[in-house]
Amino acid sequence: MLVSAKEMLDKAREGHYAVGQFNINNLEWTKAILQTAQELQSPVILGVSEGAGKYMCGYTTVVGMVKGMINELGITVPVALHLDHGTYEGAKKCINAGFSSIMFDGSHYPIEDNIRMTTELVNACHVLGISIEAEVGAIGGEEDGVIGRGECADPNECKMIADLGVDMLAAGIGNIHGVYPANWEGLSFETLAAVKEKVGDMPLVLHGGTGIPDDQVTKAISLGVAKINVNTECQLVFAEATRKYIEAGKDQQGKGFDPRKLLAPGAEAIKAKVKEKMELFGSVGKA
Ligand code: 13P
Repeated sequence: MLVSAKEMLDKAREGHYAVGQFNINNLEWTKAILQTAQELQSPVILGVSEGAGKYMCGYTTVVGMVKGMINELGITVPVALHLDHGTYEGAKKCINAGFSSIMFDGSHYPIEDNIRMTTELVNACHVLGISIEAEVGAIGGEEDGVIGRGECADPNECKMIADLGVDMLAAGIGNIHGVYPANWEGLSFETLAAVKEKVGDMPLVLHGGTGIPDDQVTKAISLGVAKINVNTECQLVFAEATRKYIEAGKDQQGKGFDPRKLLAPGAEAIKAKVKEKMELFGSVGKA
């Protein structure tokens, strides 16, 4: 079922667990994530960056693929199809293409502009039953060409954006996209607690899930994080499993070059990673 992320995130916040957003890049990725969610009876959010959307031949192609797969694989757990770090224009395209959830990342605009554009998109989404995520305080690092400075969010600005009626809020708390550098200072739980104090029951989103130590993830969930985004870690395990297959010469044995065989170890590695994260986040059996 393709659903808005609102209900699953409200339930997660109340139940003190988090729903994973796993970014998709192609058919294998999508299938591996959906099958794992179904097997573990976990709700799931499929994240699509603007770059990945373009790579997969546009948002309508993505919607067609995901809806078709949910149908053909008999997926019954709640699935949200979510635009990740959308621009204003990208968000409008996804709303029209049939996404069930969007993120508008206005964190790099002055707060007044972020408020204006977020308000317009909240109205457009809610008429259609689509959930919307907004961001305050840029997430550091680079993801698909979107570069953030990694600042901690201002709790008062978080309150202003939360009050616009968004369904989930990404607040920068020292998290960054990609692999964390060795000198990373860890998440700012002080900022997280201050944001939570201001925004109350709003489900909070933790971006940059790759490489955050388990104890910090658990603590973040206890402080109101209800959605955690993971992208790079799935890419790393996919690449590693594919490399091992080729280095072992398996692509040259029999029909080992058949893409259905060549890409299978990578897909299995994604499944194992998604399972590990769903168990850590506590979403198993919560469908
Ligand atoms: P990572 O690539 O660091 O896991 O971050 C993913 C993310 O936050 C997507 O928005």
